[in-house]
Amino acid sequence: MAGSGVAHLRPETERVLAVEDLVVQFPAKGGHTVHAVSGISFDLLDGETLGILGESGCGKSSAGRAVMQLPPPTSGSVRLGDEELTGVTAQTVRERRARMQMIFQDPVSSLNPRRKVKDLVAEGPRIWGREVTREQIEVVLRAVGLDPAVVWERRPHELSGGQCQRLCIARALMLDPQVLICDEPVSSLDVSVQAQILNLLEDTKKRYGLSMVFIAHDLAVVKNISDRIMIMYLGKVCEVVPAGDLAERALHPYTRLLLESVPEATASETAIGGAQRAGGELPSPLNPPSGCRFRPRCPLATEECATVEPQLRQVGEGHFLACHNSGPGASAAA
Ligand SMILES: Nc1ncnc2c1ncn2[C@@H]1O[C@H](COP(=O)(O)OP(=O)(O)OP(=O)(O)O)[C@@H](O)[C@H]1O
Ligand code: SF4
Ligand SMILES: [Mg+2]
Repeated sequence: MAGSGVAHLRPETERVLAVEDLVVQFPAKGGHTVHAVSGISFDLLDGETLGILGESGCGKSSAGRAVMQLPPPTSGSVRLGDEELTGVTAQTVRERRARMQMIFQDPVSSLNPRRKVKDLVAEGPRIWGREVTREQIEVVLRAVGLDPAVVWERRPHELSGGQCQRLCIARALMLDPQVLICDEPVSSLDVSVQAQILNLLEDTKKRYGLSMVFIAHDLAVVKNISDRIMIMYLGKVCEVVPAGDLAERALHPYTRLLLESVPEATASETAIGGAQRAGGELPSPLNPPSGCRFRPRCPLATEECATVEPQLRQVGEGHFLACHNSGPGASAAA
């Protein structure tokens, strides 16, 4: 399929999750189509954290939800281990998806306000007809730093935002997942609480042997928690780079723009906010630019960029780039 780049996918035997050519479209007014995600691919090894970074509206949440089949993607393949999640019956999806859990940006609204903590934690297994003991619930609550004696009878509105996110992590853990998809899990929390939740996610990942997809628009957050980072722009992948070497190795003009705007950003601003100031707004996903989607904002754009969509190619160890005019083998002088 045009626009897909699979150069960065690892051997099938090593992957916990494999997403190929994922397309997410939404109908819009006037018979138009929102091209939220346009043929992205990525995979996850056992115990790995993949960071997905990109500015607001680039399709991160749509991609995460489509991996969970909430709702299923317009097209593409999602494989968890050796089981396909797309194109199978709803019942099969539900069964297979249980090994993959997602937590969201706004923890309070993802919890049923009428239910108590003890029931919210047990809800997932109960849906599957599995009763859980008080002790099992208490173990998970303690694992996420909540004191069962204090929170047991509380409802979500009686907890802080950070406590609600801890509760969401506990709910996910009750289903013993292999993969945890975190969609901006700390964006709505106070800065002081963000670090606590990030530390908890790291600990939880190790303790429960999870692999993680970590979606964020904040470069600093993604960089610290991830092993590799996938940078998205308007529904496409522009670069995949090992997290530790991001600043030194990133080559894509968009990634460079994100990195270069960091020192100018104030503590409360994100790198992405800086990039938006420096290089204009994200074009509409209703009518994406031809060729390379970053072209209208790109200082290196050439004629070729308007007609030929750049594909991901390997430019270093674990490093993949979709750009005609940067990196080794660039087709035009930058
Ligand atoms: N259910 C929907 N119906 C129509 N358009 C949608 C729907 N969900 C998302 N979109 C559109 O798809 C595009 C991608 O949205 P998405 O929420 O995936 O981006 P995002 O990268 O997660 O942004 P943010 O950082 O703000 O969370 C946006 O233009 C958005 O308006
Ligand atoms: S392909 Fe062209 S427009 Fe796109 S990032 Fe590279 S130089 Fe810029
Ligand atoms: Mg989002």
